[in-house]
Amino acid sequence: MTNKKILITGGAGFIGSHVVRRFLEKYTNYHIYNLDALTYAGNLENLSDVEHATNYTFIKGDITDEDFINNLFSEHKFDSVIHLAAESHVDRSIKDPLAFVRTNIIGTVALLNAFKNCWKDNFEDKLFYHISTDEVYGSLGQTGLFTESTPYDPNSPYSASKASSDHFVRAYGETYNMPYVITNCSNNYGQNQFPEKLIPLFINNIINKKALPVYGDGNYTRDWLYVKDHAIAIDLVFHEGKLGETYNIGGFNEWKNIDLVRLLCQQMDLKLGREKGSSEELITYVKDRPGHDLRYAIDASKIKNELGWQPSVTFEQGLEKTINWYLENETWLNHVTSGEYKLYYEKQYS
Ligand code: NAD
Ligand code: TYD
Repeated sequence: MTNKKILITGGAGFIGSHVVRRFLEKYTNYHIYNLDALTYAGNLENLSDVEHATNYTFIKGDITDEDFINNLFSEHKFDSVIHLAAESHVDRSIKDPLAFVRTNIIGTVALLNAFKNCWKDNFEDKLFYHISTDEVYGSLGQTGLFTESTPYDPNSPYSASKASSDHFVRAYGETYNMPYVITNCSNNYGQNQFPEKLIPLFINNIINKKALPVYGDGNYTRDWLYVKDHAIAIDLVFHEGKLGETYNIGGFNEWKNIDLVRLLCQQMDLKLGREKGSSEELITYVKDRPGHDLRYAIDASKIKNELGWQPSVTFEQGLEKTINWYLENETWLNHVTSGEYKLYYEKQYS
């Protein structure tokens, strides 16, 4: 196995931290550089167990800072990039779309440029791996699945910014022959997810006996994937994915929000030794999200058939692992729910 210098962006975030850990532990001959601006969503505590690994370097920096990024590539000559850094929350994108344009579009293009300029004379054994979302495909009706050839039809500023970044990656492939691969994944859940997204927010609120704000009638559907299974898929696509291809990654696991919330309440009541049904009493229907996509569901047969990937845990198993982790990591939760996040919470749900 060859040595590689891999730049992982957004490695202090939720999914990125699982990818960094997997690569550090599995590929000790690779050197992993984790570039992260440490925004409200970036937290080095996510990696405290592996931060002393000899094949690991953390770099604090902003992907939108072109000079800084170019200098970084000149200095380190990364063979590959696994690009996860992004603004990732739909509700925040509705309040501040430009922040999403900056990081998700301009930041991605700054990275593409630096990578292209570094290797344009010889792209052999090089790879730019862009991590994207199923939200670029827009919304499904009650039936059907997103495939790799579903036309892009994004509805939120978040998904529009991710769609744009996907187009830029593809355009760099076509225009400059840059080797790339893109994956579009469904909703992730698991350890270390910032408690602004549905599952960790509701776990935190149940612990604190706070209202569970269900948007609209709760009849919105998402396809949930355990984050460690996503990290396994990323490892596989990085090593075995075909250049210039897109792979959809999903959990084969559709849940209506309200059914998921009820399951979560039941599991939490059991874990917390609370009376059956008590957490469900916290469910509160609130004003809907503007432009709320009705349903996401992935056809993940391409990655399953071509690369042999499939989820390793059922939703019930993954959810139990997730709940256990949040209950055992109260300090982590207290740290991330202080400060900036509290201000956001007051604005969003007041
Ligand atoms: P996250 O919000 O938890 O983490 C994002 C990370 O990027 C943070 O560590 C943050 O500090 C860093 N970052 C933000 N702006 C930056 C900048 N300008 N420069 C450098 N670093 C910056 O996000 P996540 O949920 O882990 O998502 C990671 C990637 O996966 C994103 O590209 C997202 O679009 C994609 N994705 C997420 C999901 C999901 O369900 N969470 C599903 C599919 C795809
Ligand atoms: P979220 O975790 O924000 O992911 P995404 O919008 O990227 O799918 O939301 C998942 C679903 O849960 C989505 O349909 C919106 C809904 N939701 C609520 O009903 N209440 C909430 O407080 C949040 C954060 C989400």
